[in-house]
Amino acid sequence: MSDQANENIESVLQETRSFPPPAEFVEQANISSQEQYQEMWNRAKDDPAGFWGDLAQGLEWAQPYDNVLEGEMPETKWFTGGKINASVNCIDRHLDSWRKNKAAIVWEGEPGDTRVLRYQDLYREVCKFANCLKKLGVETGDRVTLYMPMVPELAIAMLACSRIGATHSIIFGGFSADAIADRNNDAQAKLVITADGGWRRGKNIPLKAAVDQSMEKSPSVEKVVVYRRTGCEVDMVPDRDYWWHDLMEDASAECDPVELDSEHPLFILYTSGSTGKPKGVQHSTGGYLLGTMMTSKWVFDLKEEDTYWCTADIGWITGHSYIVYGPLANGATTVMYEGAPNWPDEGRFWEIVEKYQVNIFYTAPTAIRAFIKWGDQWPNKYDLSSLRLLGTVGEPINPEAWMWYHTVIGQERCPIVDTWWQTETGGIMMSPLPGVTATKPGSCTTPLPGVVPDIVTAEGESLGDNQGGLLVMRQPWPHMLRTLYGDHERFKDVYFSTIEGCYLAGDSARRDEDGYYWIMGRIDDVINVSGHRLSTMEVESALVSHPKVAEAAVVGYPHDLKGEGICCFVTLTTDDGTEELKQELKQHVRTQIGVVATPDQIRFAAALPKTRSGKIMRRLLRDIAAGRESVGDTTTLEDLNVLANLKQGDE
Ligand code: WTA
Repeated sequence: MSDQANENIESVLQETRSFPPPAEFVEQANISSQEQYQEMWNRAKDDPAGFWGDLAQGLEWAQPYDNVLEGEMPETKWFTGGKINASVNCIDRHLDSWRKNKAAIVWEGEPGDTRVLRYQDLYREVCKFANCLKKLGVETGDRVTLYMPMVPELAIAMLACSRIGATHSIIFGGFSADAIADRNNDAQAKLVITADGGWRRGKNIPLKAAVDQSMEKSPSVEKVVVYRRTGCEVDMVPDRDYWWHDLMEDASAECDPVELDSEHPLFILYTSGSTGKPKGVQHSTGGYLLGTMMTSKWVFDLKEEDTYWCTADIGWITGHSYIVYGPLANGATTVMYEGAPNWPDEGRFWEIVEKYQVNIFYTAPTAIRAFIKWGDQWPNKYDLSSLRLLGTVGEPINPEAWMWYHTVIGQERCPIVDTWWQTETGGIMMSPLPGVTATKPGSCTTPLPGVVPDIVTAEGESLGDNQGGLLVMRQPWPHMLRTLYGDHERFKDVYFSTIEGCYLAGDSARRDEDGYYWIMGRIDDVINVSGHRLSTMEVESALVSHPKVAEAAVVGYPHDLKGEGICCFVTLTTDDGTEELKQELKQHVRTQIGVVATPDQIRFAAALPKTRSGKIMRRLLRDIAAGRESVGDTTTLEDLNVLANLKQGDE
C-alpha cells in the first residue's frame, strides 16, 4: 500500500478524564506503588524464567520442574519436568490450615435456594465424583464434555476431571444439540456430564434433552452423567445414562490425585472464529494455574477475607479462570449465581451484593449497559457499601458506561479494573492495578508483569503514540494457549503467521502518550470511510454518550462515494424513535468526534444481535446494512428473533 497513513487506524476518541486510585485503597493494596509495578514488569520482561520461577514456588508441585521456560513462540513449554495437579492446588493445600472451614463456593440458585461449600466440603465432593468418573471408565488423558447449569456441581466436575487428569471441555448451557455434537466429535469426548435442566428467568432450560439429541451424532461418547437440578422429566437410557446422586451414594471420599506433567492439557474451550469451525483452545496445567492465580491476586487485590463475585458463566473462559481456578488457587471465597440478572426483577445482582456483602464485583460491559437502561432505582434500593473494587471484561467499555459504573455502583469510591484478555490468553493481560494505576474511562491501561504488547502495522513495524494498528504480544507468558485441539497447523496459522515472532491478538488498538492501551475492537470491525480507517467502537461510544441511547452497534457498508458508509444500529432508553432524533444523533457524533465519523444511516432497533456471552455480532449487522443475505454461522447468536426483527426494519 502506498499511503502509510491509510494502513493505520485513526483514533477519534477524545477521552481525557483520569482517576487516580483512592488513597484508602492504595494503603491496603497488594501492589501499591508505581515503582513496585515497574520493577516487576521490567524483571518479567528481562528475566521471565527468574520472575515466573519465583512465583511458581507459590504452587504445590508433586515433583519440581527442571526448566521454567523452554522454546520460543509458538512452541513454548513452561515448567518442564515438573509434576502437578490442579485440584490439589485449588483444594488440598488449603486443608491443613483454618481455611478448611472457609467458604470456597457461595452459591445462589435463581429460585433463591442457597448453598455454601467449605474447602473441606469441596474436597469431599470432588474426590467422590473423581471416583465416579473412574468407575465409569474415564482415564487420564480422556476428554469429558460438561454441559451444565451454574450449579456447584459444575465446579466439582471440573476439579474432579483435573484430579484424575481428564481434560474437560465445557459447553455453555445455551448452545444447541448440534453445537454439542460438533464439540463432542472434535474433542472425541468419552463422557458427557449434564443436568436435567437449569433455571433461567423462571423457566427450565432442558439440558438433558439437548444432550440426548446430540448423542445420535456423538459416536465417541460412551456414557452420560445427569445431575438433578430442576426435577423436570428426562429419559434415561439404560447402561448409558447415570444419575449423579446414584453414583455418589457409595463413592469413596478419598481419591489420590494423579501427578501430571505441567504441560498436561487441563481443558479445551471452544471459541468461535468469524469463519470456519469453532477452535478448541487448549490450556496447560502448571502455566495456566500460575497465571490465573497471580493475575487474580494482582488485579482483584484479593485478600483472605474478601467475598469475590464474578458474574460470568463458567461456560466462558472468564468463568474458568476467575470463578474457579484463579480464586480457588488463592484460597478465596467465590460467589456463583445460577440465573438471570433481571429475575425476579432488575435488582437481583444488587440484592446478591448486599446479601453476601460482596467486596469485589466483576462483570461485562453488556451487563452494565443493561443496568443503565433499567434505571438507577434498582441499584439505589440496595446497600452497596461492601464493594471495594469493580471490574469489567469482554468488550471495550464505552466511557459513558464506565462513568455510570464508577458513580452509581462504585459510588466514586471503588477503582475500576478494565481487564483486556482472551480465551486464548488464559488470563488477564492488560488491566489497571487497582492500587497503582490511574484509570481512564475506556482504557484497559497498562500490561501486567510478564506481558509485552506492541502495536504494529500489517508489515510488523512498531507504531508510535496514538496510531491505531494490530495488537500483538512479543513475549510468551505461562498461561497462553498451547494449541488448537487436533489442529496445530491452524494454531500456528491463526496466531503466529501474520507478524513474525509475535502472537497476533486479532484486535486493533492504540497506545496513548502515557503508554495506556485503548482497544478499538476486532480487526474485522474497522471501517474505511473516504480513506480514513475508523474503529467502529469509537463511533459507538460517541452514540452511547447521548442520553437517549442505550446501546449502539456501528458497521460499514459499501458506499459509492466514500468506499464505506457508516451505518449505526441503535437501541434507545426512550420510545422516541423519530426522524428528528436520527438527525440529532448524526449531529451528536459529528460534534463529538468530527465530520469524518458522521453517520450515514441511523437505524433504531428493539435489540442488537449478540453472542451468548454478550458480544455484539457486527458480522450479521454488516450483512443487513449491505442488504445481503447472511451466509455466516448464526449458531452462537443468543436470540434469532432479534435478527428477524432487524431485517424487517430494513430501510
Ligand atoms: C474483547 C474474554 C476491550 C477483545 C475474556 C478480545 C475486550 C475478545 C476486553 C476476547 C476489554 C475482552 N476491552 N475489548 N477489557 N476484554 N475484549 O475470548 O476483542 O470471549 O479479543 O475472552 O473480547 O473474547 P473472549
